Amino acid sequence: MMNAQPNPNAQHGATPRYQEGFGNEFASEALPGALPVGQNSPQRVSYGLYAEQLSVTAFTAPRHANRRTWMYRIRPSAMHAPFALLPEHRFHNRFREQPATPNQLRWDPFPWPEKPVDFLDGMMALAGSGDAASQVGVGIHVYACNQPMRGRYFYDADAELLVVPQQGRLHIATELGVLHLEPQEIALIPRGLRFAVRPLDAVARGYVAENFGAPLRLPDLGPLGANGLANARDFLAPQACFEDLEGEFELVAKFQGHLWRASIDHSPLDVVAWHGNAVPMKYDLRRFNTIGSISYDHPDPSIFTVLTSPSDTPGTANMDFVIFPPRWLVAEHTFRPPWFHRNVASEFMGLVTGEYDAKTAGRDDKGGFAPGGASLHNCMSGHGPDAASYDKAIALDTSKPQHVTGTMAFMFETRSPLHVTEQALDLPELQADYWRCWQGLGKHFNPAVR
Ligand SMILES: [Fe+2]
Repeated sequence: MMNAQPNPNAQHGATPRYQEGFGNEFASEALPGALPVGQNSPQRVSYGLYAEQLSVTAFTAPRHANRRTWMYRIRPSAMHAPFALLPEHRFHNRFREQPATPNQLRWDPFPWPEKPVDFLDGMMALAGSGDAASQVGVGIHVYACNQPMRGRYFYDADAELLVVPQQGRLHIATELGVLHLEPQEIALIPRGLRFAVRPLDAVARGYVAENFGAPLRLPDLGPLGANGLANARDFLAPQACFEDLEGEFELVAKFQGHLWRASIDHSPLDVVAWHGNAVPMKYDLRRFNTIGSISYDHPDPSIFTVLTSPSDTPGTANMDFVIFPPRWLVAEHTFRPPWFHRNVASEFMGLVTGEYDAKTAGRDDKGGFAPGGASLHNCMSGHGPDAASYDKAIALDTSKPQHVTGTMAFMFETRSPLHVTEQALDLPELQADYWRCWQGLGKHFNPAVR
């Protein structure tokens, strides 16, 4: 790896500029007239650029689901030396090492790096289902890093990436421009798009979902009407921004679960102009328009869906990204926290900040559901509020509204049970006694008292 060489390029220093919308036909050019007018592939492109299309859905996908972007770049993406397989890496898709477990699992906050490590080397696979070849399923990872990706660029041929920073800001330089990301925001990086990440603070940690399925989209709103939940205009895509750099760099590809490395003698972030709808984006979760009950009983948590990756079965997502943001709880004569439940889907939860209202116990010490940690409840595994949260909820005066503040929990929910990787099961952060959080729930049953 060529980590020693600084990467003093324009992208890495660029201040991001954004354009708004989700699924738009965006267009952007960093030099005037670089974008062809009236066609995609002129005989000769302005400034001596090459035209290249990135398709992240099939050419023939229905128009509403079709995603592709045309790039006008200094060199075509084909220009690099052959790839060689990288040795063992913690960022993989070996989800079948262990049987999927019906046990409820929870981890303390994931560890900080003990040595200099960049975003890519700081990635660790926790759990997953399906695989890239079948274009079904999801990989769930965490990252922790303290170094920029120096002289290295990355793309994930297996999946679209959903990045959920928990601590520390990130500068994400992509082929299509720069995103700055902070905790309580998310980024989407299309399958195959090349990028490099630099932490903007001393350390950065967060969660990443690899979505092997259909690209994430905004959910339909049904009876909610035309507005609400995540509004399309709050998504931000970058403006074109390129670097014209030559040197000894490396290009790392994630391909069918493995990392591959190739030498490349120039920066691949050399796209001068582009147009299309397969774009990196960011979204501020604090802009989510949370919808909830104003009478009794909270709705199913699907009401908190930010983005969904549909499967071939209508209404059954390959994965949903769901959040539990600050909100008012006003429902009366009802149990306000998330109820006890079992679910055909499998639920991986993380906490960006604050406290999750179903898991308030144990937060002062190790144990509990803490920011930077995670939990997993697989298909049909019973779960719900811990004993302390239950006792608080049944004693609550529900004639008064309750303001849930200072929190941001999220869920990667998927239709297939998640297999936990060996490295995640071996972590000392895995809580051996998580199951006990429900054991304090008392037996209150008395057939003589209604
Ligand atoms: Fe759940």
